[in-house]
Amino acid sequence: MINGELWTDIDGKPIHAHGGCRLYHNGKLYWYGEDRRDNVYVSCYVSEDDGQTWAFANHVLTADSPTQKTRVEADLSLRNPSGGKVNLERPKVIYNQKTKKFVLWAHYENGENYLKAGAAVATCDTPDGDFVYHGSFRPYGEMSRDCTLFVDGDKVYFISAARDNADLHFYLLSEDCLNVSRLVNRAFSNEFREAPAIIKQDGKYLLITSECTGWKANQGGYSVADDIEGVWSDIQPFGDKTTYGSQSAFLYRNPQGDIVFFGDRWGGNGFLHGGKFIYEDSAYVGYKIEWTKQSAVLIPSNEAFI
Ligand code: DGJ
Repeated sequence: MINGELWTDIDGKPIHAHGGCRLYHNGKLYWYGEDRRDNVYVSCYVSEDDGQTWAFANHVLTADSPTQKTRVEADLSLRNPSGGKVNLERPKVIYNQKTKKFVLWAHYENGENYLKAGAAVATCDTPDGDFVYHGSFRPYGEMSRDCTLFVDGDKVYFISAARDNADLHFYLLSEDCLNVSRLVNRAFSNEFREAPAIIKQDGKYLLITSECTGWKANQGGYSVADDIEGVWSDIQPFGDKTTYGSQSAFLYRNPQGDIVFFGDRWGGNGFLHGGKFIYEDSAYVGYKIEWTKQSAVLIPSNEAFI
């Protein structure tokens, strides 16, 4: 796979999985991401060769998914009052060992503007089944936009942009991962960061974020911490002025133990190509990260690093 070129599944169809995440489960690798076609919100692909090839698995969350409330206050609507689609952006899925459920969190908007700024939750018994939608809400009344999930031992954190993106909030989730249980950190005050992606190595945390320029690629930044709930270092530049033409989606460790930066080149309605959105171009990038005590460095490559 070549960075920034059209990526297709084993049937030769473009892969639609933006702003998403990857999850290993029972020897298979699952790739979830945003898919804006038809009634679809989140699609899932599966790989049995560590991400070399991908098969389409399911449209796991759609405008017609079943709904079920798990909190007292939650907006269950999967369509807006005009009947149009809402937005469920940056979907992230984790496996909850305690409940044996796959839990998805995403950024919710009503599809007409970006004023809802909510966190949305869905669950499923299997990694690529039909997820049940549990609705969206604002954690502690705070806006919640670009987001990610992070499993840290027996704790799970939801990290999302608050206060019109000015700050990044860290929420510890409840044991069932269906709710926030505590706001444990507010970082990067007034730094306006989006697209958070996080990984841990030797007890330290690395967080990559982007600037706020919509889908347009910009200079990435990285920050490190000894304690996810503690002090995060000032943001340092990551990659070049456009993060090599991408916006962060997620970080993961490949079977060789390398840290992979996975990013998107797209624009919500498609991929910006000479000023025009062409949806069928689903462009992604995978770059190696060399993270040492001194720095986190993106290693650019033409071939995707997976
Ligand atoms: C910036 C985010 O990073 C994108 O994923 C998308 O949500 C745009 N905002 C929407 O304007």
